[in-house]
Amino acid sequence: MPLARSLSVTSLSGLEEWDEEFDREDAVLFEIAWEVANKVGGIYTVIQTKARLTCEEWGENYFLVGPYMESSVRTQVELIEPCNAALRRTIDKMNSSGCKVYFGRWLIEGSPYVILLDVGFTAWSLDRWKSELWENCSIGVPWFDREANDAILFGFLTAWLLGEVCTQCDEPPHIAAHFHEWLAGLGLVLCRQRQLPVATIFTTHATLLGRYLCAGNVDFYNNLAEFNVDKEAGDRQIYHRYCLERAAVRCAHVFTTVSQITAIEAEHLLKRKPDIVTPNGLNVKKFSAMHEFQNLHAQSKARIQEFVRGHFYGHLDFNLDKTVFLFIAGRYEFSNKGADIFLEALARLNYLLRVNHSDVTIIAFFIMPARTNNFNVETLKGQAVRKQLWDTAQTVKERFGKKLYESLLVGQLPDVSKMLDKEDFTMMKRAIFATQRQCLPPVCSHNMLEDSSDPILNCIRRIGLFNTAQDRVKVIFHPEFLSSTSPLLPMDYEEFVRGCHLGVFPSYYEPWGYTPAECTVMGIPSISTNLSGFGCFMEEHIADPSAYGIYILDRRYRGVDESCNQLTSFLFQFCQQSRRQRIIQRNRTERLSDLLDWRYLGRVRYYTHTKHTVNCFSDHQGPMLCPLSATGFRYPRPASVPPSPAHSLHSSPHHSEAEDEEEPYDEDLEAEKDRVNIRQPFNMPNRNKNQTVSLPEKN
Ligand code: UDP
Ligand code: G6P
Ligand code: GLC
Repeated sequence: MPLARSLSVTSLSGLEEWDEEFDREDAVLFEIAWEVANKVGGIYTVIQTKARLTCEEWGENYFLVGPYMESSVRTQVELIEPCNAALRRTIDKMNSSGCKVYFGRWLIEGSPYVILLDVGFTAWSLDRWKSELWENCSIGVPWFDREANDAILFGFLTAWLLGEVCTQCDEPPHIAAHFHEWLAGLGLVLCRQRQLPVATIFTTHATLLGRYLCAGNVDFYNNLAEFNVDKEAGDRQIYHRYCLERAAVRCAHVFTTVSQITAIEAEHLLKRKPDIVTPNGLNVKKFSAMHEFQNLHAQSKARIQEFVRGHFYGHLDFNLDKTVFLFIAGRYEFSNKGADIFLEALARLNYLLRVNHSDVTIIAFFIMPARTNNFNVETLKGQAVRKQLWDTAQTVKERFGKKLYESLLVGQLPDVSKMLDKEDFTMMKRAIFATQRQCLPPVCSHNMLEDSSDPILNCIRRIGLFNTAQDRVKVIFHPEFLSSTSPLLPMDYEEFVRGCHLGVFPSYYEPWGYTPAECTVMGIPSISTNLSGFGCFMEEHIADPSAYGIYILDRRYRGVDESCNQLTSFLFQFCQQSRRQRIIQRNRTERLSDLLDWRYLGRVRYYTHTKHTVNCFSDHQGPMLCPLSATGFRYPRPASVPPSPAHSLHSSPHHSEAEDEEEPYDEDLEAEKDRVNIRQPFNMPNRNKNQTVSLPEKN
């Protein structure tokens, strides 16, 4: 990697002349990512959720740079004229030189400015830029790797944009450019190679090799220091991508990542220790009514129940009021995301519930996008049958109501035996006949293109979870992200999460893991692991996470089978909770939201930018320091009743479901009991600063 080696990490070539005091007014921040206004995974969530705060901090001097995707732009962006003269000149110049650059506002909270680069439009430059990359950096990219080709086009366009901004400004401001992930990293490398006066930050949200190695069933964490990185990348045919990633890491003035565990991984696989760890936050919305989120849970759950009524038509032999909804969601990486051990644990749970004659039913949703050619007929039919039953019931109800009305009008009590006539019965019989079905409720909602080799479907076939009447655990694989416009389950992801009871994310590879974090701020308990950034973060900052509905599975110090048993036991305990216990637990979970709010975590990132920019522009070569870090606070155990039977103390009430229905439950009082015992984050002195993160082990 000649280029990466030739540039020293701390050298500030091209910036020396700006040895001035840092002034935020005079600084501009460009944030560059492939996921700007382009939803792929968690990086989109990072950028989208922190936009409001970043706009507040940087005002008119904040610009997001991403790829132009027509479909997203149509729904998410308002195209406008560039907001200042220098940018107008920059964009005009690029557009008159054969590019298509758009300027607009991203229609999310904060309405940040976005500059969108049409990579397809400049595809004619690909070969030229590839040779330039080879000549200057000795990185060769094969023609068939479409993603890498996009990364090259995007990288060259970004560097062109930043270079042009520097040229077009009469008095160039202090420019900081924050690049996310390898797909955007080349722009950073080129900024350094061209010696642009731009201070650069690179954030990795996962290492390429880490993702690939873990997905390949390698004993990753025990061998972190041993991998021959070049060979491993070559073996997986991602050497060129790895070179792009490593060059960006190497060239960045400041290198950051999202969790301690990924920091260790980066040190070994990318050969640079991150300067700072910036945990991911969320934009937490507080409701004016304290328990509004509980009401939302009930409303969304009712909609999921409606879907379930249709999906299981003809087999609705379980009590929906005693049905618990679990789900896993995210990019489809079967073992990295822990879908493998989740399925195995579900099979064990099914056995446990059956031998214990439990009346609880579990429905586990798998929301992971795979290649499909649309919904399958049986699934659509289920919803149609349900709708037909509903319509029939409404028609009969109306006819019944009319007869009742007529009878009351003439001052007579109705003859109940005559209220339903033959026609009503025929209608109802026909509707019931339609609910007869010859097959079991499908485990998958779509027609899968790779049905026979699909890992989730194959695992279901092996463990035999086919949604039979005897199964206490039912499975629904929805291989597409959720959308409120779906004809099947018309809910967006947030609504769906709110309606579930527990998110299950037993990941083996998860640099941060937004899904459990999102559950937390919505007051939905979740299971994560001590190999995920989120799990480790919560373990560090909460004295008894499971009491708050944050179950952290041990995948570090236990073998797979043991972890699977632990997961089964978490799930089994959860199923045994009464409604009252679930309500208490949701209240607790929701109270942790502040911990994950960008308003607090954003400060870490804020200081990264500020300090970084100061360092670069004042030619300060010392190590990066973070004045505020996310360490130093810890939520104590909650004061009131523990939620889970396994953790119950003698003081815990053991209510039956019957009691739940009868006894009024004062949620505010429970909440208050806990609140007095919870200290606010960031107010406490730093905890053991010398605490080291040891390498995880996997048996
Ligand atoms: N997500 C979504 N729709 C869905 C399922 C998931 O938008 O139907 C989002 C979810 O809100 C989360 C992201 O996908 O923000 C997944 O991010 P995470 O960090 O958990 O994992 P990644 O996919 O980036 O590895
Ligand atoms: C919320 C609602 C309650 C409802 C409960 C159901 O707390 O405010 O009215 O009874 O959800 O909880 P469950 O865990 O059974 O879905
Ligand atoms: C990556 C990681 C995920 C993380 C996200 C945002 O996609 O896989 O764990 O939450 O980036 O940082």
